[in-house]
Amino acid sequence: MQFAGKKGLILGVANDHSIAWAIAKQIMEAGGECGFTHLPDRPGDDRQRSRRRVARLTDKYENAKFLIPMDAQKDEDIRSVFEYTASEFGKIDFLLHSIAFADRDDLSRDTVETSRAGFKLAMDISVYTLLACTNAARPLLNPGAAVAAMTFFGGEKCVPGYNVMGVCKAALEAAVRYLAFELGPQDVRVNALSAGPIRTLAGRAAGVDGMLELYQQMAPLGKNVTHDEVGRTGAFLLSEMSSGITGEILHVDGGYHSMGSPGRLLDRLK
Ligand SMILES: NC(=O)c1ccc[n+]([C@@H]2O[C@H](COP(=O)([O-])OP(=O)(O)OC[C@H]3O[C@@H](n4cnc5c(N)ncnc54)[C@H](O)[C@@H]3O)[C@@H](O)[C@H]2O)c1
Repeated sequence: MQFAGKKGLILGVANDHSIAWAIAKQIMEAGGECGFTHLPDRPGDDRQRSRRRVARLTDKYENAKFLIPMDAQKDEDIRSVFEYTASEFGKIDFLLHSIAFADRDDLSRDTVETSRAGFKLAMDISVYTLLACTNAARPLLNPGAAVAAMTFFGGEKCVPGYNVMGVCKAALEAAVRYLAFELGPQDVRVNALSAGPIRTLAGRAAGVDGMLELYQQMAPLGKNVTHDEVGRTGAFLLSEMSSGITGEILHVDGGYHSMGSPGRLLDRLK
């Protein structure tokens, strides 16, 4: 029960495939209490589909303490989420940022053709929100608390098809290092988990279906990572077990990032 007595906020659960849900489950099963946000429902959506998709998951967990709407593009939404969190939890011990978005048109275009509006949108949602949410969380973070964000190898190297999102992930990883430096004196750690491809809403939009076979062939472990594996490492980064680690990009990708050649895939090509 390494999260016994610990409380925190999970940003980015859309459904049961979401990486944020895989991480939250590990935390709650280890005794942690979580608050959740969901994308606001569209005006006029009386069925509240967005909220219900997440509530269906959180309702089953006693340690899921609240579920409130947040469009991370809106400063007032961020403010009210952290005010609500303060009123429910007082201080918090962890914050997970598992949010990204790019317009499909921009993702399907070559990076060189990214539109200005699409670039701003992708950078705003996928990068700036980490700064904004961490800043809003600052007064609430206990000494020893941890912040974690989700990234992908396409931020380090060119992964054709990942395109503008790769540019966003490079910026996100830089943001993690600056935040780690600035929050260090408060004894707060900031890290990112770089996951291999996982089938999720955002993942499919960014082309993971086409990457799964490649990872299976090329990664030293010869397989794709599972939701549970990413969930456990996310929980580790948000727990005291990782005290001493900050400003780090931790890969959970079967070792794919460590390869300098196609490895066993070469045998198949021969
Ligand atoms: N799936 C993968 O293969 C993979 C690999 C590495 C990293 N990641 C990263 O993991 C994170 C989570 O993605 P996922 O794969 O779990 O997909 P997902 O679609 O389940 O999660 C993305 C989340 O971003 C949220 N979001 C988008 N715009 C928002 C906004 N304006 N305000 C608030 N929330 C908003 C969505 O509601 C959703 O919950 C992302 O940062 C993604 O880039 C995914």
